[in-house]
Amino acid sequence: MEATSASSKWFLHCMLLILAAQVAHCSVTYDRKALIIDGQRRILFSGSIHYPRSTPDMWEGLIQKAKDGGLDAIDTYVFWNIHEPSPGNFNFEGRYDLVRFIKLVQKAGLYVHLRIGPYVCAEWNFGGFPVWLKYVPGIRFRTDNEPFKMAMQRFTEKIVRMMKYEKLFQSQGGPIILSQIENEYGIESKAYGAAGRAYMNWAANMAVETNTGVPWVMCKEDDAPDPVINTCNGFYCDYFSPNKPYKPTIWTEAWSGWFEDFGGPVHHRPVEDLAFAVARFIQKGGSFVNYYMYHGGTNFGRAAGGPFITTSYDYDAPIDEYGLIRQPKYEHLKELHKVIKSCEHVLVTADPTLTPLGNYEQAHVFSSSSGCAAFLTNYHLNEAAHVTFNKMHYELPPWSISILPDCKTVAFNTAKVGVRPSTAQMIITNVKMLSWETFSEDISTINDDSSLTYVGLLEQLNVTRDTSDYLWYTTSVEISSSESFLRQGHYPILTVQSAGHELHVFINGHLSGSAFGTSENKIFTFTGGINLHAGVNKISLLSVAVGLPNAGARFETWSIGVVGPVALHGLDEGQKDLSWQKWSYKVGLKGEVMNLVSPNAISSAEWVGGSLAAKKQQPLTWYKAYFDAPEGNDPLALDLSSMGKGQVWINGQSIGRYWTADAKGSCGQCNYSGTYRQWKCQSGCGQPTQRWYHVPRSWLKPTGNLLIVFEEIGGDASRISLVKRLVSGV
Ligand code: GAL
Repeated sequence: MEATSASSKWFLHCMLLILAAQVAHCSVTYDRKALIIDGQRRILFSGSIHYPRSTPDMWEGLIQKAKDGGLDAIDTYVFWNIHEPSPGNFNFEGRYDLVRFIKLVQKAGLYVHLRIGPYVCAEWNFGGFPVWLKYVPGIRFRTDNEPFKMAMQRFTEKIVRMMKYEKLFQSQGGPIILSQIENEYGIESKAYGAAGRAYMNWAANMAVETNTGVPWVMCKEDDAPDPVINTCNGFYCDYFSPNKPYKPTIWTEAWSGWFEDFGGPVHHRPVEDLAFAVARFIQKGGSFVNYYMYHGGTNFGRAAGGPFITTSYDYDAPIDEYGLIRQPKYEHLKELHKVIKSCEHVLVTADPTLTPLGNYEQAHVFSSSSGCAAFLTNYHLNEAAHVTFNKMHYELPPWSISILPDCKTVAFNTAKVGVRPSTAQMIITNVKMLSWETFSEDISTINDDSSLTYVGLLEQLNVTRDTSDYLWYTTSVEISSSESFLRQGHYPILTVQSAGHELHVFINGHLSGSAFGTSENKIFTFTGGINLHAGVNKISLLSVAVGLPNAGARFETWSIGVVGPVALHGLDEGQKDLSWQKWSYKVGLKGEVMNLVSPNAISSAEWVGGSLAAKKQQPLTWYKAYFDAPEGNDPLALDLSSMGKGQVWINGQSIGRYWTADAKGSCGQCNYSGTYRQWKCQSGCGQPTQRWYHVPRSWLKPTGNLLIVFEEIGGDASRISLVKRLVSGV
């Protein structure tokens, strides 16, 4: 009898424990110190890994490396345009399988910060907005506009519903502990005035009303209304405080490096400076740091925004574009996380007290019944300091923080890196590209069958709706045989004003010249002498988009393409304005229409064989070859340095845009450091920004892989090679 009552008591006790555990794990809240998970305040390290910027077979490895690097959470945006390519048609397959990605994070035992946006910026095409959204009648993005709010709410709620259905919020026992609505709306909001404020409040309320059971954040939005937490993005965030004393201090984007534009420098942020920034944030009371990016990855296909964002989104992150560990960034941060975690209990219970130790030296001390931790800082840019703290002497290197988890022993100094840099090499493989064939876009017949003609110039996106980067504008001009330039042997000058991003001018089927804008100056003018003959001449302008804008005030209204004027100068009549002639339009290339990139395409394209063909440096040429996959698991890339500008596909999958003829003279390497608080560029001038293009292993089969390259300007495809990425010293 007694035994029975003891065992039923024990059973009851167990049930209560289980219930208590369930209640405890069913909430994420916050206070002024930290996020509170399972009833515990936490210091959390997180890293951005964007699921479509790698392949699903890479996800598990990336997440595991992030975990081993001392991260607690993975942060990702949700990319609306890939998920809803046309209104109401959704795609969550393959690289777009958000649920699978989150479940892998969960399986690894990490949390998720889900940044739904749905505006995401992120150097992503159109900032993540589907292009069709621009054409919803009466729409204005990111302001108090009913059509926009309706579409944004519908998508946000769809994502939240999907997550709830899969029980992925922490309130349901899942990994999502935090969600973001909008992205860096602060500046925009001010520009929009009352409408901006109304929209921002609406967005916050709409998000909160989805009842996820986990907190929402708005990054770089000082006015974020309760209970939404405003957070910081930047190279440094130690100056940042949330807008209410009862909110925790969160850094949603600690920039680990930076992105690249074609034609621009390659960026590098020394880990000493990044570690300094993170330690400084924690010593001021910050409790959540997300590295943007922890793994940047690749802008496959036409996902890159900009314009001019490179296909690589390496970001100088702790895990490189190919999924390999970058040292010393990875290890030094791992050490930092470990040391901070070792005093987490005191950091979340005490407030720091600040004591000056000299002109440039300070101590931040956290002390409570659970212990004592100190951060000793030397802000001097280039002089070491000797300080006395708690009657002990410490040497502090310039621009550094020493962390003393017990207020005595230095466990870590941000400037002292104990790991050697890894070196990445691109090693040529013995893979041969076989059976080269070429196919030329037939320029002479461009627009002969065009169904769209218009008197005047049309904005590019309005015509293409971003189904292709390319739009042909064609017109003709009749030259009288009495024109003096024909006798004098000089050419009339053509000027074409374009709103972006790139232009190739063809006269009677021959490339006459090219021009392009820059990320600073999207608008540009082509000016060049053109070879016209007596009679009718065909002027074909191939306007090329190089990624739609992802940031800037009302960027959805920015024009691209040939906006005019288009004029001929140096004729006997003087200047001839061609802008208001009849123009015919053709979206995309013939090769795109024929779907040449697809391994299954049954097309009538007349490919011309022979390896000599691949050497011909002709504009607007498609190249095709086959190759076998090299053995092993090392990551692979194509070396496209022999090419100019275009796009490349393997087995029908788009590797992305390439541009190696972009060495516009800017210097190759740029370092960012607090020691100068800006990018300093030096060395490597005249090199292409991106020479190597990631080929995911999972896109290859053992033999007979189909390589297709479309080249706009002219290149030597026979010199394209497949390389392996090897990293030593990891
Ligand atoms: C931030 C933005 C991110 C990304 C970053 C630069 O301002 O929130 O989405 O664009 O800049 O890489």
